[in-house]
Amino acid sequence: MTASDIAAIVAQLPKAELHLHLEGSIAPETAAQLARRHGAEITPAEVAHRYRSPDFPGFLDAYKWVTSFLRQPQDYALIADELFARLAAQDVVYAEITISASVMLRRNQDLAANFAALAEAAERSKSRGLRVQWIFDTARQFGPEMAMETARWAARLAPRGVVAFGVGGDELALPAAELRPAYDLAREAGLRAVAHAGEIGPPQAIREAIEILGAERIGHGIAAALDPALMERLASDGVTLEICPTSNLRTGALARQFGAESASLDRHPLKSFFDRGLRVALSTDDPAMFETDLIAEYALAARLGLDAPEIARLAEMSFHAALLPEPDCQSYLARFRKRTSELGLL
Ligand code: HPA
Ligand code: ZN
Repeated sequence: MTASDIAAIVAQLPKAELHLHLEGSIAPETAAQLARRHGAEITPAEVAHRYRSPDFPGFLDAYKWVTSFLRQPQDYALIADELFARLAAQDVVYAEITISASVMLRRNQDLAANFAALAEAAERSKSRGLRVQWIFDTARQFGPEMAMETARWAARLAPRGVVAFGVGGDELALPAAELRPAYDLAREAGLRAVAHAGEIGPPQAIREAIEILGAERIGHGIAAALDPALMERLASDGVTLEICPTSNLRTGALARQFGAESASLDRHPLKSFFDRGLRVALSTDDPAMFETDLIAEYALAARLGLDAPEIARLAEMSFHAALLPEPDCQSYLARFRKRTSELGLL
């Protein structure tokens, strides 16, 4: 079966996406529109050019740059409505959206007002058949105090749909131990824990995210491919890796982890993880920046060697790893299985 056959099948499945940054989903045209709203003239082509970063620091710069055009609740409402429309059009029925909450705080924005606009957009998306929950992310390079402040906000907004606290940004900027108090605070407030780790950092960063921060899911975690004992442990502990192949190529993470000759998707460890029984949640990370979408990532998984029933099992895993109450999780799974059996996939 070709990758495009797989894409056609995956398009017909109800899907979940768990690793998706709101601020990385801004289409070039929308970024240009936001820039104009705030007095800057930039063409969509220029935005697209900025999005094509040569390496990981370049990616973080581009991410920071595009967030500079997000200044008020209407800006956030616009990008959320657009993202949710695109997700619904792909039959994504459940999404956990990561917000760079620490960036809002660092820019002295009214986080409560921004989040209220986002929560309203999530409410509107229900009529499209999409359920959204939120993850508040702190940028590692902003330090432990900002992490605490972000965790406090996440706890405060938990009643409005924030379900987890996470860390992203420059993975090498701060040891995990410095983030522990923020994770403890979040956990005590009933939030779940996720963390970017082993994206550009070593396998040890994944161990620390689990042991020190209590992360139940790891953003990327591709460094695990370098450490068979760690892969075994991830499989037996049922820790989910949120795998975003195009992101790993475009940020240079693949080349950094596996050598310059790995600057090709064919070297991505997704299939190796899958074959070893690791839990994997396929995602896009920053779809507009990387010019991808969830269906395209499944087509890549097929290119990496997963056959149609394996692709279906992969898609099912995202519902398993969702931060949902058990009955909700089961009801999505039942719906998913019904569709896969109608399509003759499982
Ligand atoms: N890693 C680190 N920071 C990020 C990412 C990522 O994949 N996406 C958006 N911010
Ligand atoms: Zn990410």
